[in-house]
Amino acid sequence: MSLQVHITTFGCQMNKLDSELVANELISQGFELCRDNGQADVVIFNTCSVRQHAENRVLTCLGRLGRQKASHPGLITVLIGCMAQRQGTELIERFADLDIVCGPGELHRLSGLINKARDGAGRQLALTDRLRARRTVPTELEDMDTRHRLSQITSSAQAYVRATRGCDNFCSYCIVPSVRGPEISRPPASILAEVENLVAAGCIEITLLGQTVNGYRYCADGPETDFAELLRMVSAISGLKRLRFVTSYPRGFSDDVFYAMAEAPVICEYLHLPAQSGSDRILSAMKRSYTSAEYLDLIERGRTIVPNLSIAGDFIVGFPGETEEDFQDTVRLVKAVRYKNCFVFKYSPRPGTVAARRLTDDVPAEVKRRRNNELLAVQEEISLDLHREFIGQKVEILVEGPSKASYKERPEHRNQLTGRTRGDNIVVFDAPGQVEQLTGTLVDVIIRDASALTLFGELPSTLPNARQ
Ligand code: 5AD
Ligand code: SF4
Repeated sequence: MSLQVHITTFGCQMNKLDSELVANELISQGFELCRDNGQADVVIFNTCSVRQHAENRVLTCLGRLGRQKASHPGLITVLIGCMAQRQGTELIERFADLDIVCGPGELHRLSGLINKARDGAGRQLALTDRLRARRTVPTELEDMDTRHRLSQITSSAQAYVRATRGCDNFCSYCIVPSVRGPEISRPPASILAEVENLVAAGCIEITLLGQTVNGYRYCADGPETDFAELLRMVSAISGLKRLRFVTSYPRGFSDDVFYAMAEAPVICEYLHLPAQSGSDRILSAMKRSYTSAEYLDLIERGRTIVPNLSIAGDFIVGFPGETEEDFQDTVRLVKAVRYKNCFVFKYSPRPGTVAARRLTDDVPAEVKRRRNNELLAVQEEISLDLHREFIGQKVEILVEGPSKASYKERPEHRNQLTGRTRGDNIVVFDAPGQVEQLTGTLVDVIIRDASALTLFGELPSTLPNARQ
């Protein structure tokens, strides 16, 4: 029997993509993916360092490795992702049952490291030296992306495709530039070839990824390709039905990107545009290089050029020095933008960042919690209002699969499917007898009810226009 590998993924879409690429490599070497971590011969944790909470969850998993090894002799344990690059040396010393630590810039070496460890060559550590000085990507690492095929990890209708690696922004709170390295844009030809392969394999929705994806800029010998141009090229690929991109950075966001969105029907009217704060004083301390007025101006231009633009945001509450007045500026910004949804995070000092070095984490945990809840409550009201406007409308959704939460809570809902609109709204609807058939397809659904998080719809009484 083939060796079984299990991957647990923490963190953002970039990590989900890396897990998928690692799975592909291991499958091509004869491994099989397994769903049950207890059955695996190799367990991999793909980790996130963006907040302490994310790291704590991984530390708990690492603490259990000894017991896992005792019940499965020969088990190989692997740590990849941002925590590997940030603390690899320390972690391999601290956790005697951890066999391999491999940073995100060394993933092309991972299958070799697993083979070495299995051959008894001992514990393996692969981190990128002088990561910030790296100006090119090793060919073998780039090849992992270009060889991207759909694996069992994600649905076959949707895939992430990397546009850029790393980040050069150095927001004062953020660990990403030091664990993911400098921003490097992939050659457009590689991106196009990858999308073409995925679409040929049946994928209908592609999400282009980058820490600041709109910063995409590629120039080798020929003319420069910017992000708007990349969007136009990818959207022209025949068979692709939906194109998205995350995450955008508010400075240097060209109107041409909005024009590309308005012109190409496959580009979804969706923008993930973190503001982080509504206070100019805090934005400056965060080194975000825009003001709340500039941010609002960008949103207005976007909404003028792209009708029905659906916008998601990220906010950090309790950044050092954040007063009640600063926080109220954030509340005002959230109300002014009317986001589709917001992700709200409590500030977590990351060792090595400018904020952790120079600023005191002086907002008490209790105040952070209250601001977090207050901002979420403000957003919830907006989300509900926006969702209610959908009632009675017909929307196109990409069906992702059975609605798991409702199935667990209420077995009578086992015929329920979940999917997303072009604007990234979650829709749940009943589809008795059609669960398999509709998964991974685009269907029209009529919205009948709405909560802040979810739209509830039904298939039109005529046959659904399931299209592949
Ligand atoms: N503390 C809290 N939240 C953070 N984020 C990034 N760094 C931190 C931090 N140190 C949030 C930002 C970012 C999202 C991915 O995580 O809002 O957009
Ligand atoms: Fe993603 Fe950032 Fe977390 Fe790394 S630290 S997994 S890049 S969110």
